[in-house]
Amino acid sequence: MFIVAAPDKQAHAEGIFDLVAEQWRDDLREQCREGRIFHSHYDWRTSRVGLVDGKVVTHFGVYDLTVRVGSARVAAAGVNLVVTHPDYRKQGLMPKTIWSSIEAMRDRGYDISIVANAVENYYERFGWRAAWPETHYYIAPESLPNEKPDVRLRKWLSFSAEFVDCVLAGDIPEAAFLGRSPLGSTSRQTNAFTGN
Ligand SMILES: CC(C)(COP(=O)(O)OP(=O)(O)OC[C@H]1O[C@@H](n2cnc3c(N)ncnc32)[C@H](O)[C@@H]1OP(=O)(O)O)[C@@H](O)C(=O)NCCC(=O)NCCS
Repeated sequence: MFIVAAPDKQAHAEGIFDLVAEQWRDDLREQCREGRIFHSHYDWRTSRVGLVDGKVVTHFGVYDLTVRVGSARVAAAGVNLVVTHPDYRKQGLMPKTIWSSIEAMRDRGYDISIVANAVENYYERFGWRAAWPETHYYIAPESLPNEKPDVRLRKWLSFSAEFVDCVLAGDIPEAAFLGRSPLGSTSRQTNAFTGN
């Protein structure tokens, strides 16, 4: 029997990691465990997994991304790591997974949802619309200019990954981050922009 649920950290995380690693790359398993899912903005309440006899066969990942439009804060549901196990494709399991997540997005109060790197012609049926083209530029190192740029570069000295994590996770409020570090003067030395 197929059921859709919000993923449970204990019960489903490893199943999700296996599914995405099998679909894309082995190192994703470690990447998801070490950060991309476990220690990130991954929204456990709004993401969805599809389960057959307890085994994770679909995954629809949602990240809680608050973006700014002018001075407004817009709650954006960033979609990532969307996959159905190869043995279960073309059976309508991803649509069930996605509709359940869309309902959860509404309940959770997201204003908008964004899918980056979307497979073509799939998400429109659920209401997403193409918004901007994605362009990749590849530049060979030898083609880069040698002269110094005419902008002032500043080096970001961050010896504390935890500090950056806190800012990104919102544990240190933006206001405090922009005004004054709540961690005191020591953190100013270890986490600072500096001229070079
Ligand atoms: C894209 C993906 C998630 C779709 O998952 P799915 O569970 O197979 O989704 P669906 O059930 O909607 O099936 C996809 C296709 O099968 C068709 N289909 C659905 N039910 C079907 C059925 N019972 N019989 C025949 N075809 C069916 C759908 O119409 C759809 O085809 P279309 O896109 O040409 O309309 C899956 O193919 C996948 O994991 N791909 C690899 C990873 C990837 O590309 N992820 C997306 C990144 S944005």
